[in-house]
Amino acid sequence: MAGHGTRLLPATKSQPKEMLPVARKPIVQYVVEELCRNGVDEILFVTGRNKSSIENHFDYDPELYRTLADAQKLDLLNETFRDSRANFFYTRQRMQKGLGDAILCGESFAGEEPFVVALGDSILGLHANSQVVTRMAEVFTAKRASCVLAVEEVPREETRHYGIVQPEGLAEDVFRVVDLVEKPAPEEAPSNLAIAGRYVFSPLIFDLIRSVQPDKRGEIQVTDAIRLLCEEGKRVVAVRLPAGEKRYDIGNFPSYFESFVEFALADPEYGAEFRKTLERMLRSA
Ligand code: G1P
Repeated sequence: MAGHGTRLLPATKSQPKEMLPVARKPIVQYVVEELCRNGVDEILFVTGRNKSSIENHFDYDPELYRTLADAQKLDLLNETFRDSRANFFYTRQRMQKGLGDAILCGESFAGEEPFVVALGDSILGLHANSQVVTRMAEVFTAKRASCVLAVEEVPREETRHYGIVQPEGLAEDVFRVVDLVEKPAPEEAPSNLAIAGRYVFSPLIFDLIRSVQPDKRGEIQVTDAIRLLCEEGKRVVAVRLPAGEKRYDIGNFPSYFESFVEFALADPEYGAEFRKTLERMLRSA
């Protein structure tokens, strides 16, 4: 789930940013593959106007399937399409009223169960190899938490792009969060640990989202609802992204370019050749 993607115009004029390719696959496919590998097999996509290509992407296309089967090229469609046991569901957020509001769209889907929220503009780990969601679910149970967040360190001057957490005491690999702020200025940020686009929630969060006031842009921030959990003394726990599972942010052009190049360089078939091309380009630049 995500907003308008205005930072990526004109690329996102008529397609969602979640469908931009990073090397071979659209971003949303990496996110889905990551979730499937972490044992999430019921996935609700909260989309919006202009995002129907996401549904099409995950749909079974018998004609394409037959063509590829005849040509013995089925490997061009990877496991997400062929063998996935995941069930996909779709709903639309009618107005862009923020991440909190988008999460509310999943209320009846989640029911009484804890659930994972994954933002569609972040890939975790090279080729989405992150296991952090599994770890977060373990921590959620072990600590009897109401919310577990994935966090990563960001440079101080970038705190205004993220939700920033305030750790209780020293921030180890797993630590309790006592407060958090959405997009603070560096001098007001309680740390440089940013929410990294993956959350595990108890369904308690829905009532709290409903009680949050919209921010000055009219958006309901889930960060504010998590803050209320902290105020109520509920356990909010952060899990740091381990080294080697870095977050690839597709929300702006510089990090989109960087992600694309890094994934292309790691491509098992074309990576080595692409590296030579890139080196040649850099030498002649
Ligand atoms: C959202 C969250 C923010 C989080 C960020 C990165 O912001 O509101 O707390 O740190 O995603 O995952 P957005 O990038 O949608 O503005």
